[in-house]
Amino acid sequence: MQKLLVHGGKPLRGEVNISGAKNAALPILCATLLTEDPLQINNVPVLRDIATMLALLKQMGVHIETQPNPSNLSLTTKQIDNPTAPYEMVKTMRASILVLGPLLARIGKASISLPGGCAIGLRPVDQHIKGLQAMGADISINHGYINASVKKLQGTRIVFDITTVTGTENLMMAATLAEGTTTLENAAREPEIVDLANCLIAMGAKIQGAGTDIITIEGQPSLHGANHSVMPDRIEIGTFLTACTATGGEIRLNNTAAHLLDAVIDKLIEAGAQIDLDNNQICLTMNSKPRSVNLRTAPYPAFPTDMQAQFMALNCIADETAIITETIFENRLMHVQELKRMNADIEVEGNTAIIRGISHLDGAHVMATDLRASASLVIAGLVARGQTTIDRIYHLDRGYEHIEKKLSQLGADINRID
Ligand code: EPU
Repeated sequence: MQKLLVHGGKPLRGEVNISGAKNAALPILCATLLTEDPLQINNVPVLRDIATMLALLKQMGVHIETQPNPSNLSLTTKQIDNPTAPYEMVKTMRASILVLGPLLARIGKASISLPGGCAIGLRPVDQHIKGLQAMGADISINHGYINASVKKLQGTRIVFDITTVTGTENLMMAATLAEGTTTLENAAREPEIVDLANCLIAMGAKIQGAGTDIITIEGQPSLHGANHSVMPDRIEIGTFLTACTATGGEIRLNNTAAHLLDAVIDKLIEAGAQIDLDNNQICLTMNSKPRSVNLRTAPYPAFPTDMQAQFMALNCIADETAIITETIFENRLMHVQELKRMNADIEVEGNTAIIRGISHLDGAHVMATDLRASASLVIAGLVARGQTTIDRIYHLDRGYEHIEKKLSQLGADINRID
């Protein structure tokens, strides 16, 4: 199993290019199921989750052409031979549920392994199922599989009980080929939903309101091929900015979109970073010890749960005491145990962590428990005294493209070993 070795204490300096967004690319890849024409998708990050999604689509009958640039893909789904998402694939990547809506919309049947709980929480899919049932789908759960069928999905009004990102994406895709108009209320407003909507609109879908909490989709008889470039990864951007705020230094990130992470940038400025935004570049300079910042995660446009772990590492070496509250997932503070191995002073009460800043962290042997927890351990390693060994970095490879190469480019002492 591969590990990362980090020797802390070096400020980050230089520039790196930001990759396409994992959480936008995953649903956009599934949109290929909605049309028999080729869908050209550019700026797809080269990640383990993307490879899993491509393998899933391939076994359904999707033809995938990789161009010389591995970030540019052409997907064609002339016909769907096997509308099944097997357990082996769904268990490694919950986003596999995103094929459910498109399969029902295009061929009226799907059999998807029920995603169980995962490290960060229970993560049920009841809202996806409730919405598709309201659109007329017959859904039963047998032997761990969601078996769904429908003659033709019918447009309707769906009010989500809880704001769900992939739930909104699944139903938005399903509704593009439904008969009549669908309204999604209490919809999630994440930028990845807007990116998916833009791709679907380029494919001929009629969608209004993506990015607000009411999305209206007028079903079409069919969609056609299109060419779409995936938005920049706002969580990758936020992770690099937080890393430099922790280590000090000066970095420039290219291919970004600053407006996507206002809440994160506000918190970094509060921590003492100086940030300049210019078209698609973000420059960050940090010359002092970080100030502690309190935060509470919530759906977009509030502070993202996917940046909570990275800010936990930052607060570990900040000047005072910070309080972080995680409100989206019930078990997303697992990095605390690992940070404590590095001498961090953190107390957890329910979904709240109280972090007392200390002068320095000590390098230690730690274990990545989920994707963003891994990123927090990398940041902790970059500021710790001595060597940090991070185990189970396959979590990191699910969502960060060449992270150690990009950090090395910024002057970090970080290496991958077998
Ligand atoms: N929920 C339900 N029922 C549902 C759906 C969700 O109760 O049917 C609950 C979840 O258990 C959770 C909350 O609603 O407590 C929000 O979950 P959501 O459905 O929004 O999360 P998701 O769509 O499964 C996506 C991202 C996550 C990100 C969350 C929140 C993708 C592929 N995944 O997950 O990304 O944390 O939204 O922003 O888009 C990551 O990249 O590390 C990651 C976990």
